[in-house]
Amino acid sequence: MPETTQILQDVLQMKPVTWFNEEKEKSADPLKKLPVTFLHIQEAQARLQRFAPFLKEAFPETENGVIESPLREAHSFKKNMENYYGRKIEGRFLLKCDSELKVAGSIKARGGIYEVLKHAEDLAFQAKILSITDNYSVLCNESFRNFFSQYKISVGSTGNLGMSIGIVSAALGFQVSVHMSRDAKQWKKDFLRKHGVTVIEHTEDYSRAVEEGRRQCAGDPRAYFIDDENSVDLFLGYAVAALRLQTQLESLGIHICEDTPLQVYLPCGVGGAPGGITFGLKHLFGDAARCYFVEPTHSPSVLLGMLKNDDSVRVVDYGIDGLTEADGLAVGSPSKLVMGLERYLIDGIYTIEDDDLYRLLALLRDSEDCKIEPSAAASLKGPLVTQDIPSGGTHIAWLTGGLFLPENIFRECYEKGKELLG
Ligand SMILES: Cc1ncc(COP(=O)(O)O)c(C=O)c1O
Repeated sequence: MPETTQILQDVLQMKPVTWFNEEKEKSADPLKKLPVTFLHIQEAQARLQRFAPFLKEAFPETENGVIESPLREAHSFKKNMENYYGRKIEGRFLLKCDSELKVAGSIKARGGIYEVLKHAEDLAFQAKILSITDNYSVLCNESFRNFFSQYKISVGSTGNLGMSIGIVSAALGFQVSVHMSRDAKQWKKDFLRKHGVTVIEHTEDYSRAVEEGRRQCAGDPRAYFIDDENSVDLFLGYAVAALRLQTQLESLGIHICEDTPLQVYLPCGVGGAPGGITFGLKHLFGDAARCYFVEPTHSPSVLLGMLKNDDSVRVVDYGIDGLTEADGLAVGSPSKLVMGLERYLIDGIYTIEDDDLYRLLALLRDSEDCKIEPSAAASLKGPLVTQDIPSGGTHIAWLTGGLFLPENIFRECYEKGKELLG
């Protein structure tokens, strides 16, 4: 049986698989053909820089208005993982700790905050109350809050995108509604309501929550819908992470080239966050950056889309229930934008079972004292299930969320993981 047929069978039976993208091309070729370019990432970076004075004042916990996470070596976790799984891992093992990202506590902050800031800037420019050379700390003034309060922002979310958009929109003064899917955790809804955000709860999956948000904004000129399934701005906000990561790698003295490659593992829901980061990394490091998406076995929407060559797939139509504790990854259909942009770029996708998420979460807590949410743990298995790298290479597990996870809920996840570790 051809390999992809076997993989598809396993995917349909919700078994863990690793898929290597045979349609991947030398990255320079697809990158040349895409409508989004490296210049767009640099523009996004420059826009975030313009907003730093505003962010510094509105969120003093940021580093001078820059929202960035640490990159750390994980010696102890690597050793413990080798012992537990009985396999040696070549190369360095680093953690990209978006689980500590200030303001919104997850990878979704990168895109979500960026798109809200861009929208605010567009509105203020159109109204001629802001110019590109101004010090953007003026956006904290009451007059700007009054101006933005005439406008609405809306988004569909499994939780973390809503948190990032809700928090920053409310800080600017927008009226903001978040449509939450059935998988969204109660604590995320409570958190948003405390920040003055209107939360609308849906009993159906993520795609329906997005559809409803889109419908409510249609026809209202003062309403702006942030579309996680199609937004180029979200995508560019995520892509800026690659520029920041490049600086961090340099400061650790890590040089990326074909002989010393970088292998990155990115938890994936609709594909926007991992897609944007992959796009940025391929621009910076070419084929020396190998990017793997990670999905839950019960919600492998991007993988199914790739295997069926169909960007409209819905996992439920294939008898896959979409039920997983990895709420951020509980997405039934992929982003069409990402399917188009990433088809020939990504190196592969692996899927992971929920039990493994708990095991890895507990192992990481015991090894490195990190608090992450189950979705984020998906990245940690990468070195064991993808391509081996030379000893001079580097693995990065992208820890995509966890900062605001309430301690009691984290404790429950940890206890479950400890039990499974035996
Ligand atoms: C913690 C976490 N990791 C990863 C992702 C995946 O991002 P995307 O849906 O853009 O693929 C999400 C999405 O909400 C998330 O919350």
